[in-house]
Amino acid sequence: MLKIGVFISCFLSLILFFAPETGSAQDVSILQGWKFKTGDQAGWAAPAFSDSDWAPIKIGAPWEAQGYPGYNGFAWYRLHITIPSAIRDKSFLKDRIRFDLGKIDDGDEVYLNGSLIGRNGGRGGTIESGVWDQDRSYTLPLADSRIHWDQDNVIAVRVWDRNGDGGMYDGKYGISINDVTDYVRINTADNGFQFGNNKQVSKKISLQSVSPTYDFTGRLHISVADPISGSVVFKQTLGIDFAKDRPFEYTYKVSLPENKSYQATYTFEEGRSKKQLSVTEGIPFILTPRPPATPRINGADVFGTYPNAPFLYRVPATGEGPLTYKAASLPATLKLDPQTGIITGTLAAKGSYKVKLSVRNKLGSATKNFTIVCGDKIGLTPALGWNSWNCWGLTVSDEKVRASAKAMADRLASHGWSYINIDDGWENAQRDADGKILANSKFPDMKGLADFVHSLGLRMGIYSSPGPRTCGGYLGSYQHERQDAASYAAWGFDYLKYDWCSYGEIAPRDPSLEDYQKPYKVMQEALASTGRNIIYSLCQYGMGDVWKWGNQVGANSWRTTGDISDTWGSLSGIGFKQDHCAPYTEPGHFNDPDMLVVGRVGWGPSLHDTRLTPDEQYTHISLWSLLSAPMLIGCDMSRLDDFTLNLLTNDEVIAVDQDALAKPAVRVADQDGIQVWVKELRDGSRAVGLFNLNDKAHPARLDFETLKLPSGQKLKLRDCWRQQDLGVQKGSYSVTLPAHGVVLLRVKAAQ
Ligand code: GAL
Repeated sequence: MLKIGVFISCFLSLILFFAPETGSAQDVSILQGWKFKTGDQAGWAAPAFSDSDWAPIKIGAPWEAQGYPGYNGFAWYRLHITIPSAIRDKSFLKDRIRFDLGKIDDGDEVYLNGSLIGRNGGRGGTIESGVWDQDRSYTLPLADSRIHWDQDNVIAVRVWDRNGDGGMYDGKYGISINDVTDYVRINTADNGFQFGNNKQVSKKISLQSVSPTYDFTGRLHISVADPISGSVVFKQTLGIDFAKDRPFEYTYKVSLPENKSYQATYTFEEGRSKKQLSVTEGIPFILTPRPPATPRINGADVFGTYPNAPFLYRVPATGEGPLTYKAASLPATLKLDPQTGIITGTLAAKGSYKVKLSVRNKLGSATKNFTIVCGDKIGLTPALGWNSWNCWGLTVSDEKVRASAKAMADRLASHGWSYINIDDGWENAQRDADGKILANSKFPDMKGLADFVHSLGLRMGIYSSPGPRTCGGYLGSYQHERQDAASYAAWGFDYLKYDWCSYGEIAPRDPSLEDYQKPYKVMQEALASTGRNIIYSLCQYGMGDVWKWGNQVGANSWRTTGDISDTWGSLSGIGFKQDHCAPYTEPGHFNDPDMLVVGRVGWGPSLHDTRLTPDEQYTHISLWSLLSAPMLIGCDMSRLDDFTLNLLTNDEVIAVDQDALAKPAVRVADQDGIQVWVKELRDGSRAVGLFNLNDKAHPARLDFETLKLPSGQKLKLRDCWRQQDLGVQKGSYSVTLPAHGVVLLRVKAAQ
C-alpha cells in the first residue's frame, strides 16, 4: 500500500542519514564546470560572489593531482547549475531532492544558494572532524525555497583537509529527485557466488526495503550476459513483493558457457510507478590452474640481509606434501629446517651467497638458484604480505592477526607471501613510567605474537607515526623514536610502517624538503641501531615528491598517494598515475601505491566483499605487479574465497612483481581508453599489460615495436593469468577486453 503522506514525513529526517546506495540514475549531471580556490572566506558561499577568476577543477580526483601538491587545510569548490523543474514533475514520489557529492577528504560543508544544506563532521560534528571515506548525499524537501527551479543555482562546497590527499576525490555525483526505488536495496554483497560442477554458478540475492511504510510489489529481472559479445546466457523474470521486515530472497543458478568474464544484472521494476532499479555485478572467474602436485619453488630469486641480523626466510614451494627441503652451498651460519623449509641464523660477512635450493616429494624434485645478499640493503624485491588496515581498521586484535598469519602460512606462504603487519590501533593510551611504548589490551603479548608468526616462517610488521599521535589518534613515536625502535626489536618486529599523521603539527606549515625528511631520518637511525632486518615503509602520501628522496632516508618503500579504497575510481586513479614516480624505483626502494583492496575488506569492524569487479581485481594485481609495487593484502585472510585465493597465488604474475631487476613498467600506449604498460624483466623478456579503462568492452592492440626487443617482430607470447602459451606471433597482438579488464602477457623473442 502506498501511503505517501506518512511515508514522506517519516523520511524527512531519516533520509539525511540513509544515503541510498543503489538509487535511481542521476537526473542532473554535475561533473563539469567546477571552480576552485584554496583558502577560506565565508563570502565564498554567496551566490552573487564572482568566482570568474577561480581555477577550473575536476571532481573525482584529489586536488593534489590537479596542481595543488601537498596542500592541506581549507579550500572551496563552486558550481553554477540550472535545476530543471522537469525532474521534479516527472518523479512519481514527489519527495525530496538529493545532492550526491561523492566522497570528500576530509570534512565538508555544502551551501546551496548561500545557505548551509549539509555537513560531514564525523563524530565531532565540526568540519575539522569530517570523515573522508563516506558518501555525501544531502537532501531537501522539494518545497524548500532555497532551490531555484529552472534558474541558476550555486552549490558551494567548503572543504577541510587534515593531511594527505584532499577535496572531492571520488564517488557518485549528481542531482536527483528521490524516488520509490531509492528506498530499495538490491543486496548482492551478503552472499558470494557458489561454484558447482560444469561451470555451474549460483548466487543468492535479496531485495530489501528501507521504507517503513511502502510495501513493494513488482518484477525482478535477472540476466547474465557476456560483456564482450553482449549475448545473454541466462534470463529469468519473477513476480516479487517485499517490505521493511520481509526481504525477498532468491538463489539463481546458471551454467556459464566459458571460463571468462560474465555480468549479472538484477533489475527491479516497481509495480505502481514502473520505475526501475538495476544493479550489475561481475561473476568471479578463476583463470589460474592449480599448481602441479610435483614440487615447484616459487618466489623471488634474491633476498637481502644486514650483517649479523637475525635471518628468517621460508622457502616458498608448492607441491603435494610432505615436502623435503635442501639448500646446497648454504653458508654454515645459516640453517635450513628440511621439513618446513625455514632458514634461520645470521651472516656476518658482507657478500653475495649463491645457494641452490631444492625441494622433493614422492612425485619428484625441483631446484632453484637463490642469492642471499648480505650488505647495506634489505627488501631487494617488493614486500609481499598482509596488513590489518583495509579490513580491520582500528579494531585489529591479537586474535585477528593470528588468524591471518595462520591463513597465510597455510595457503599463501608457498607463493612467497611473508609479512604479517599490524597497522594502527595496537598502541596503549599511555607509555609506562620510563616512557616505553606499550601495547593495548587487544595485544596482551606482543612478543608472544611475533614468536608465533616467526614460528610459521613469516615476518612481522608494526605501525607508528613520527608525530605525537597516529592518524587513528593513538600514541605516536614523537621524541621516543629510539625507545620505540628498541621496543619493536625486542618484540621481534621485521617491518615498520611510519605514517606522517600528526607530524603535520610539528613540521612548519610549508615544509621544506629537509622538514619532510627530518622525522624519517630520525627513525631510520633508530631502526639501524637495533641491528635487525627491519623493512622501513614510509607513509606520507607522496608529499615533497618522496619518490625522489625516499632512498636517501633509508626507506624500502614510500607511499606515493593518499589512501586507496575498493572502488574503480580509487584504484584506477592511483594505479594508472604511477608513471611519473616509476623511474625512482630500484632494488630495495619501491614506490607504494597503497595496499590491495581484494577479498573481504571494510576498515573494521564489519567487512564486505570488495566492490571491485573480478575484472577490476585482475587489473589491480596485474598493474601492481607491473609497477614492482609492494603488495599487502588488505582482507580478512581467514575468510579467503576461492576467487581471491586464486588471484593472489598465480606464481607467474607474482614473478613479474618480484623480478629482481625491479624495473617498473612504463606506459607505451594510451588511446581510446586502452593503455599498454611494458616492464623489462631480468631475463630480457617483457611483461606487458593491456588495460581497458573504458566502462564497456573495447578492442586492444599491442604493437610489438613498442616493446623495443632487439629480436624484432616475431615473438613468443604467454598469458600469465591463464598460464598458457599463445604461440609465436608477428607484428602485433589484438584482443577485446571487458570493461576495466586486462590481459597480462610475458613476451620474449622467438628463437
Ligand atoms: C592513514 C594511512 C592508512 C592507515 C591509517 C591508520 O594515514 O594512510 O594506510 O595506516 O592512516 O590510521
